[in-house]
Amino acid sequence: MNINFKAAISWEGTLVIGVYEGEILTQSAETIDVQTDYTVKRALKDTSFQGKRGEIFSIIAPHGIDSSRLVLIGLGKKEDLTSHHLEEIGGILTAHLLKTSQTHATFLLEGIDSKNLTLPEIAAHLGFGALLRSFQFDKYRTKPKNKASLTHLDLIVSSSSEVEKAQTFFMPLKSLAEGIFYTRTFVSEPPNVLYPVHFAEELKALSKLGIKVEILGEKQMQALGMNTILGVAQGSVKEPQLVILEWQGAKDQAPVAFIGKGVTFDSGGIGLKPSSGMADMKWDMAGAGTVAGLMKTLALRKASVHAIGVLALVENMPSGTAQRPSDVVKSLSGQTIEILDTDAEGRLILADALWYAQDRYKPQVMIDLATLTGAIIIALGTEYAGLFSNNEDLAHKLYETSVETDEKLWRLPMHEVYDKDINSEIADMKNIGTPRVASSITAAQFLARFVNGVPWAHLDIAGMAWSSKDSPFYAKGATAFGVRLLDRFVSKYYEK
Ligand code: BES
Ligand code: ZN
Ligand code: ZN
Repeated sequence: MNINFKAAISWEGTLVIGVYEGEILTQSAETIDVQTDYTVKRALKDTSFQGKRGEIFSIIAPHGIDSSRLVLIGLGKKEDLTSHHLEEIGGILTAHLLKTSQTHATFLLEGIDSKNLTLPEIAAHLGFGALLRSFQFDKYRTKPKNKASLTHLDLIVSSSSEVEKAQTFFMPLKSLAEGIFYTRTFVSEPPNVLYPVHFAEELKALSKLGIKVEILGEKQMQALGMNTILGVAQGSVKEPQLVILEWQGAKDQAPVAFIGKGVTFDSGGIGLKPSSGMADMKWDMAGAGTVAGLMKTLALRKASVHAIGVLALVENMPSGTAQRPSDVVKSLSGQTIEILDTDAEGRLILADALWYAQDRYKPQVMIDLATLTGAIIIALGTEYAGLFSNNEDLAHKLYETSVETDEKLWRLPMHEVYDKDINSEIADMKNIGTPRVASSITAAQFLARFVNGVPWAHLDIAGMAWSSKDSPFYAKGATAFGVRLLDRFVSKYYEK
């Protein structure tokens, strides 16, 4: 969808005006009320619409203006109008407009004010929320869902200098939205299309933005000794890939490294998952998808940071060549692992990816993202991702950023006693702890054995990557959780 900031109104399609809680019209709403022969105030009298944040009321074919529809959107209480709330309002508006089969809408912003934000900033945040909600993954539909769909949203400010300011504020947010859409597209793709080689091929396009893209295939991984990645992949006919993305937006800076679990389909392997719900495992590559979207955003907005993205891409399948429960594998780090559950594959591929990232790039911090455990959904549901870290300062920074961006994180403990639970009888460790006992934590303890003392955090996003219900920022489906969080984390703490 195109978001445009303008100073002149176009009457095509839908006209949107804002109303504060208590039925208080904004300045531009007052003007439209007069032009429509008091349609707005008459409608307010006869409906339950009060102007609460996100409330919507539509008037079809309004008298006195050329627009085919007039939409009243609730702004809530003036003192509550934060950037986050503005983004929510923008998203709710898009969700509504998408259902109307109109292609153009114009939102009059004059008279919307907020304690801390100027009108151009208000416009940028409304536009960002509206844009985020416009993402739809419909490339496999041969017949469109609606007659037509919203393609243009104009946000009207007071003057051409305000237009320019709004565009400037909007620029980094637009880059963020593009990264988020990139992630959502990958996560939405079915696994017959998005298997490791295809995923890696797609990522090559990032080189046009100045990202260095390097791809290691099976042969190179064999030569390096990445046997935990190869072990998970060996049951599948699809070749695994390790993709390294490097954005060098700052010189002389030890990189910040992001590592993503990219299991393009997780059947469970020989320890096959039950068939009900198995389809969800197409999004078991969401960690890698998030890393891809984050790197794209950093490059688009030319972030002054040195960032590395490492995507471990495999398909986990059962077959005659698949790894068996009780196999012992030697990881890139040299440590040996007894595979007791072929479905605990995410930690295995991350083990080699984490070791490789720290060994080759000597990063100042490493953050991995993974749809790692079902247990994190039992613990935190679909509101918070799990945060695990070996470093207080890093955990604190991530937590602070999660509060600011509303991509919520909740820290869980790590401790020697949990670590002991993954000791094996026959190898250095096993890939599961005591079944059903703190299994999100023992998974994190496993990863911690492959970070070689580097400040590291693990985000278990199993409950966050996919949503079964609509929100102001996305339709049900892929959320791209983490792109926004980590983009802010980078700009807040690591940009020069
Ligand atoms: N990909 C799954 C975790 C998952 C479950 C993600 C549900 C999203 C939704 C992971 O590979 C897995 O199967 N984990 C096992 C670990 C267990 C064998 C220790 C799990 O959570 O059951
Ligand atoms: Zn699994
Ligand atoms: Zn998995």
